[in-house]
Order: sequence, then structure tokens, then C-alpha cells
Amino acid sequence: MGFFLTIEGGEGAGKTTAMGVITAWLASRDIAFIQTREPGGTPMAEAVRETLLASYDETVNSTTELLLMFAARSQNLHQNIELAMAEGKVVVCDRFTDATYAYQGGGRGVDRGHIATLETLVQGERRPDLTLLLDIDPEAGLTRAWGRGKALDRIEQEDIAFFNRVRAEYLDRAARYPRQYVVIDADRSLAQVKQHIEAVLTQRLGAC
Ligand SMILES: Nc1ncnc2c1ncn2[C@@H]1O[C@H](COP(=O)(O)OP(=O)(O)O)[C@@H](O)[C@H]1O
Ligand SMILES: [Mg+2]
Repeated sequence: MGFFLTIEGGEGAGKTTAMGVITAWLASRDIAFIQTREPGGTPMAEAVRETLLASYDETVNSTTELLLMFAARSQNLHQNIELAMAEGKVVVCDRFTDATYAYQGGGRGVDRGHIATLETLVQGERRPDLTLLLDIDPEAGLTRAWGRGKALDRIEQEDIAFFNRVRAEYLDRAARYPRQYVVIDADRSLAQVKQHIEAVLTQRLGAC
């Protein structure tokens, strides 16, 4: 029932762009879907997102950040994702728990066992059916992200070493979970990235 597709990658890798490619592909085939993003996806979870991404005149404790990520996720999962899955829809989500492993685990050094505990608490057995990892050197991704012209949020303001750890954690997870992950080289033209994504969708969802 349903199909849970997540899009992962660093800042400026092209996740939001990929979301457009995927939803256009699904719509052109009359496949029912919802799109959502994390942290966020419901009014309450979007409020938690704002709280998470704002800058404060205090140190944000990494456990506080971790708990807020999963608080938002619990809301989005139960209000949106599980309902759409039960209706047999494709759920396309811009970031999910793999981002928590990458950013809070790889980036901040949070114990992966604690993340796994919260993953089970919040999600039970639910895991993505497919994760597209848009992989790009963080410097190149950040250059693209700056090109969007929006001010950087609290997490986007981390240093390059942080984003290198995020990337390494994503690639490590992709190697460990090859049935879940497809790694897309995002440092190519949009046309090439689009072609790769569409080929994966045809392979995994073409029979829908
Ligand atoms: N393959 C690509 N080549 C060049 N620019 C791209 C490519 N994919 C996305 N972009 C541009 O890079 C910027 C960041 O893309 P975006 O999809 O917002 O990334 P993310 O959501 O991963 O942060 C946008 O301005 C987008 O138009
Ligand atoms: Mg985006």
C-alpha cells in the first residue's frame, strides 16, 4: 500500500528541484501522490520548523534539536504520510529521518543509537521505500544555495567541515542500505539529473 519516496542531500543539491521533476512525472502518469517536506509538512510541524531554523542568542543543545526534529516528524507522519500511504498514494518527502542521521548524527555527532531509538518510537516499522540521495560537493551546493538569494538559516550557517561530515554520513548510509538508496550525482546539468531521476522512477514505479 502506497510508496514512500524521500529526497535527501545537502544544501543546494537540488532537492526542491528534484521534487518538481518527480511530481511532474507522477502527475503525467495519473499516479496519485502527496508532496511534503521535513521538518514541516503540517501547520504545527511548520511552526516547529521555524523554531528549529531560527537563530538564538544561546547555544542550541543538540538533543533539543534532535527532539524537535522528531516532534515535527511525528506530526507530519501521523497527519499526512500514514494517511496517504493507507490510501495507496505515493508520498514524496523533501528530507526525512536519513537527514537526521546525516545532520544531527554526522554533523553534530549525536549518538546514532539515540536517533535509532527515536526513529522506532516515532515511526514504528515505517521506513522510506526509496531514497534519492542528491550528492554534491558541499562547496558547490552552497554556492547554488546562495544563488537562491535567501538568507541562510541557522543550520545552513554551519561551516564546511560540518557539511562534509553530513555528506560522508549520507554516503555511508547509502552504502549500508543499497536497497533503499539510489545515489544521484547532482553535480551535473539539470537535464542530466532529471534524466537519471526519471529513469529511476520508471524502474521503481513504472508499473503503477
Ligand atoms: N543540476 C543543477 N545544475 C545547476 N543548478 C541547479 C541544479 N539543480 C538545482 N539547481 C539550482 O540550484 C539552486 C538550489 O536548488 P534547490 O533545488 O533549491 O536545492 P535544495 O532544495 O537541495 O537546497 C536553485 O537555484 C536551483 O535552480
Ligand atoms: Mg530545498
